[in-house]
Amino acid sequence: MSIQARTTRITVPEIRARKGGEPIVCLTAYTTPMAQRLDPHVDLFIIGDSLGMVLYGFESTLPVTLDMMIAHGAAVRRGSQRACLTVDMPFASYQESPGVAFRSAARLMVEAGCSSVKIEGGREMAETIAFLTDRGIPVMGHVGLVPQSVNSLGGYRARGRDDAQADEILADARAVADAGAFSIVLEGIVEPLAREITEAVDVPTIGIGASPACDGQVLVTEDLTGLFGDFTPKFVKRYAELGEAIGEAAAAYAEDVRARRFPGPEHCFGAGKNSGRG
Ligand code: KIV
Repeated sequence: MSIQARTTRITVPEIRARKGGEPIVCLTAYTTPMAQRLDPHVDLFIIGDSLGMVLYGFESTLPVTLDMMIAHGAAVRRGSQRACLTVDMPFASYQESPGVAFRSAARLMVEAGCSSVKIEGGREMAETIAFLTDRGIPVMGHVGLVPQSVNSLGGYRARGRDDAQADEILADARAVADAGAFSIVLEGIVEPLAREITEAVDVPTIGIGASPACDGQVLVTEDLTGLFGDFTPKFVKRYAELGEAIGEAAAAYAEDVRARRFPGPEHCFGAGKNSGRG
């Protein structure tokens, strides 16, 4: 059976086995109705902590809590039956020690029912990634532009433009793969580096702003559908303008209400009938 026709959930080992094969199609999802729409089309959902900025209006992903990730992970699980599910470990839920990371990840696995967790960071996270994977928790890595470190990085600019920085990011990706990650998100890095990493590691790379050289691609769904922000980053392709459509729908509704065109008789219970109430 082709992977598109199936209705059972795609597993972590199946994603891992896609290295160098058919590109992995990945999107973010945070809610049940969005997951229902996207599920037939994607191999993997990342329930990303980007939800802090996209859904909650935070300035960065840092204020996102474990409880928020659990609630949204569970919502996406309820809305999907096919895509593999990876949920982000939010800032401060894993950096302190492997033990703290295990307790947070276990809650995400049990309470959200996801198949894996994602951890931002490179060599400094290798011990934690090994600790979790050795204990039955599949981990996706995330290197390059790591948004939880925006305060140390000084912004969201693409990385790996000079040799020294590219060498650091390559060493991070190797360490994460060697520690047992089943795949690695490469975010905001230059194309030659994305290609070098993809060739250097034996697990699939999933790019966002990291060129077609990766084994798969991910975008924030609200970016590609025009539901988030006025600014479209260079690496995003807008496939729809749902934000505009929602604005137009709201304007048409407001006009109808003000002109008493809505609700019409077809929207009313017992309209035009003698209700017997005078
Ligand atoms: O938080 C997020 O949405 C992510 C993906 C874009 C990879 O980390």
